[in-house]
Amino acid sequence: MNIVVLGPGAIGSLWAYSLHQAGHTVALYSKQEHDKLPLQLDGNTPITLANNQPVSLQNADVLLVTVKAPQVIPALEVLRSDLHPDCIVVLMHNGMGTAEIVASRLPNNPLVLATTTHGALRQSRHQVLHTGQGSTQLGGYNSKGNQCDFLQQVFAHALPDVYWNENILDALWLKLAINCAINPLTAIHQVKNGQLADEAFKPTLHQLLDEVHQVMTCEGLTLSRNELNTHVYNVIQATAENRSSMHQDICHHRLSEIDFITGYLIQKAHDHQLDVPSNEALYQQIKRIEKSWTS
Ligand code: PAF
Repeated sequence: MNIVVLGPGAIGSLWAYSLHQAGHTVALYSKQEHDKLPLQLDGNTPITLANNQPVSLQNADVLLVTVKAPQVIPALEVLRSDLHPDCIVVLMHNGMGTAEIVASRLPNNPLVLATTTHGALRQSRHQVLHTGQGSTQLGGYNSKGNQCDFLQQVFAHALPDVYWNENILDALWLKLAINCAINPLTAIHQVKNGQLADEAFKPTLHQLLDEVHQVMTCEGLTLSRNELNTHVYNVIQATAENRSSMHQDICHHRLSEIDFITGYLIQKAHDHQLDVPSNEALYQQIKRIEKSWTS
């Protein structure tokens, strides 16, 4: 297949390299201005991929969007005129809220959502390390996207394990809940994920998850409060040595994904007339930190 990866950061580069090795024609769209970019995964042979070539987009069967949530809409806006209406658009990022907008701006394209637990680290512009074996879930967002379950095999062949999830929004909500619990707290306190297992964070995590669970229940999810707790503490343990993406963004004075994580939760809470004061407080704290760089 002809596959374009939009946003070859750590996860995008991991997929670009793996899909290329699986025999697909892979091209990149990135902030870098060169026509071609070298890419190396771990100690494997480096490859060279086309970059920012409108012809790659015009011929693309799949556009895998791996930019962070705040960049999804602006990046797609620039490319939209070159995108074939049959091209399958796959969104793979932390947070929620972009799919609604993409579906309205690209009404004819099949839209598929993805979430992955693979770990990847960009060592340099052209080198990426696969730091943690994980799994990926894909699922349709619109009716054309629902017919794209064959993508499970395409993606699994490149980087297993991959599952087709008929209820992908449930998987995205669970990931959102995990991100609401881990990301703002680790960013504000500048701690690794594992430190959230300390007794001192227990009451705050408890309140955050009570609120998140109420919103999830109103959204129709059937996960119990205990199951949610188990999922969150499992991720805290499994990623104990990691700095969360928001922690890294805040350290590097980059705008975080807070609007698409806690911000999305707050918006949904308001839709259901629910109060989420603990999440609201963390949202405001992250916003204050971000504002302090520009004032
Ligand atoms: O955003 C992140 O960093 C990750 O989604 C997670 C699961 C919190 C692990 O660090």
